[in-house]
Order: sequence, then C-alpha cells, then structure tokens
Amino acid sequence: MKAFVLERYGKKRALRSAEMPTPELRDDEVLVEVHAAGVNQLDTKLRDGEFKLILPYRLPLVLGHDVAGVVVEVGSRVRQFKPGDEVYARTDDFRIGTFAQFVPVKEASLAFKPKNLTMEEAASIPLVGLTAWQALIEKAKLKKGQRVFIQAGSGGVGTFAIQLAKHLGATVATTTSAANASLVKSLGADVVVDYKTQDFEDVLRDYDMVLNSQDGKTLEKSLRVLKRGGKLVSISGPPDPDFGKQIAAPAFVKLVVRLLSSGVRRKAKRRGLDYAFLFMKANGSQLREITRLVETGAIRPVIDRVFPFESTNDALAYVEAGRAKGKVVVKIK
Ligand SMILES: NC(=O)c1ccc[n+]([C@@H]2O[C@H](COP(=O)([O-])OP(=O)(O)OC[C@H]3O[C@@H](n4cnc5c(N)ncnc54)[C@H](OP(=O)(O)O)[C@@H]3O)[C@@H](O)[C@H]2O)c1
Repeated sequence: MKAFVLERYGKKRALRSAEMPTPELRDDEVLVEVHAAGVNQLDTKLRDGEFKLILPYRLPLVLGHDVAGVVVEVGSRVRQFKPGDEVYARTDDFRIGTFAQFVPVKEASLAFKPKNLTMEEAASIPLVGLTAWQALIEKAKLKKGQRVFIQAGSGGVGTFAIQLAKHLGATVATTTSAANASLVKSLGADVVVDYKTQDFEDVLRDYDMVLNSQDGKTLEKSLRVLKRGGKLVSISGPPDPDFGKQIAAPAFVKLVVRLLSSGVRRKAKRRGLDYAFLFMKANGSQLREITRLVETGAIRPVIDRVFPFESTNDALAYVEAGRAKGKVVVKIK
C-alpha cells in the first residue's frame, strides 16, 4: 500500500511517500480502506519528536490518527462490523497510520460514519470531537446553564467544542481573531473576544470551566476567569499526575510530569479550582454518541481545506502554521 512514513524525528522533516506492507490484522481489529484522513497538530508534534517521552514509537512509522473509510476485512473476534460498512475512528496510540491506503482499527475504537457526511467531513471529526467530549463531559461534567470559556474557537478543537457546549446548554465564550468572529458566532459562541486587541481576563469573570489549548501564559490568566469550584482543563499541558498513571509511565517520567504541573496545580488549589490535563483517547462508544449528534444536526463539521494524498506534507505544514479555520483533511480515495 502507499503510505506517508516518518523515518526520523525532525522539525518540519518531510514524511516519505513509500510502498509499505499492509499491517497485519489482529483478532479484535477491522481493516479499513482509508478514503480520507484528518490532520491534527498531534501529527506534526509527533513528527517533530515532541512526544518521544510520552509516546515512544519505533520508527519508521506511518503517521495519521483520524480515518474515514470502508471496512474490507474483520478479525475473528469482531462482532459489530462487516466488509462494506462505512466507518470512522481516531486510531489507538501505538496503532496509528491513517496516512495510508489501509489501516487496522480496534473494534472498540470504531463507529459507523454519520450518514449525512462525506468521507472527508467524517475524517475531520474523531480526534477533535473526542477531545471536546472528554474535556467537557468526562473531565468537567459541564451542565446546562454553566459558563465555559473555550480558547481558539476557530480551530479544530474549538469549532467542535463550541457546538458541543451549546448542545449541553452552556453559555460559551471564546477567543479568535476578528476575521473568524462570524464563524464562531455561527457555531453558537455567545461571547467572542478578539485575542489580538483584547485581554480575555479583563472581559470574562466567574466562569465554571476553561478549556485551555494555548501557552503557559494563557493558562495562568485562565485561572483568573474561573469562579471557586471551577474547572481548568488543559489540552496543551502541563501534564498532571493522573496522566502519568494513564500512560503507565516509568517512575522518572511520573516524577517529571508531577513537577511540570506542580505550579499550576498549587495556584489552582489556592483559588479553590480544579486543574486537570487531558490527553484524549480513542473511544468507539463516545464516537457513536458523536455520530448521533452529527446526524441530528446538533453538530456540523467545519473544514478549512482538503488536500490530495500526494500533498500530505503540505497538509501537515498548513496545520502546523496554526491558522486553520476548522479542520484539514487528506483525501486518499
Ligand atoms: N491533549 C489532547 O488530547 C489534545 C487534543 C487535540 C488538540 N490538542 C492541542 O490543542 C491545541 C489546539 O489544537 P487544534 O487542533 O484546535 O489547533 P488548530 O486547529 O491548529 O488551531 C488553529 C486556530 O487557533 C487559533 N489561534 C491561534 N492562536 C490563538 C490564540 N492565541 N488565541 C486564540 N486563538 C488562536 C487560530 O485562529 P486565528 O487564525 O484567528 O489566530 C486558528 O483558527 C494544539 O496545541 C493541539 O496539539 C491536544
């Protein structure tokens, strides 16, 4: 099969287009013919070597986490899927590789593709959709009537998280530059802060939750917009001790992780707030819930650009530049 392969870690290092063997299917997996693959910041960060400690992959590695496609084969223990089914998924860590013509996906991580979406639209959803789900619902238990500040509302995670928060009945504030204000309003944002001309900490007060996706300074300022009992969930670090446990890290990594977040955890505690880091996981049953929300029209995908398969490196560069309005997808079939 054709695939885009990471041979050596390196900043902005191009993936090599190569002929690779189709990965062997395990009993609990489904082989998916990839029609489209979503591109994520995680792909560019992995390529750069930023995740070596947390996700120690062996190279060469076919990159790519999000897939939409058609089932071509199922393992002996698979019950819910059959050849011909249209599906989508965020593949599991250490079993990624959607920038390829075929990828095996664990049955437990797979869901039927929303019927009202194209393959490209479906491929744009899993990683960011599950991130929003796990941040707002699992970690913060966001409720109707609560107020949430979702940073970078025009990005991949933001465009999904705004819609999910509105569906849950929350009031949503977000940051974006002026050019994207109408986009985030159309997704349901109630308060829009232009981060280039305004400081969000001057505008927002007494929020129940912040979804932090930016740098350390932004994280620090986010503490000030929350009310006592509020939750600060960060997807851009620093990792917390629970994350060390989640990845079953060796003792020294657990210690590093604890130290990295000790400052923000201490400050949060002093203000009566809860700090949690989220590193999203593949999850087929949550993705099924997302399918339902997409099919009822509660959530729609927002796609900025679709690149042809041969331009996968250009798609990664576009995402890395950090200006995407919604999602970037590679069309493979
Ligand atoms: N831990 C996890 O499980 C997890 C999961 C998913 C993502 N992430 C991380 O979360 C971050 C966001 O991911 P993403 O996929 O949403 O990124 P993205 O799609 O690349 O974000 C691009 C958007 O961010 C906006 N933006 C850039 N700087 C901003 C700022 N200072 N304030 C507000 N908006 C700003 C841009 O709008 P303008 O053009 O208007 O500036 C653009 O629309 C990344 O660091 C990613 O690695 C973590």
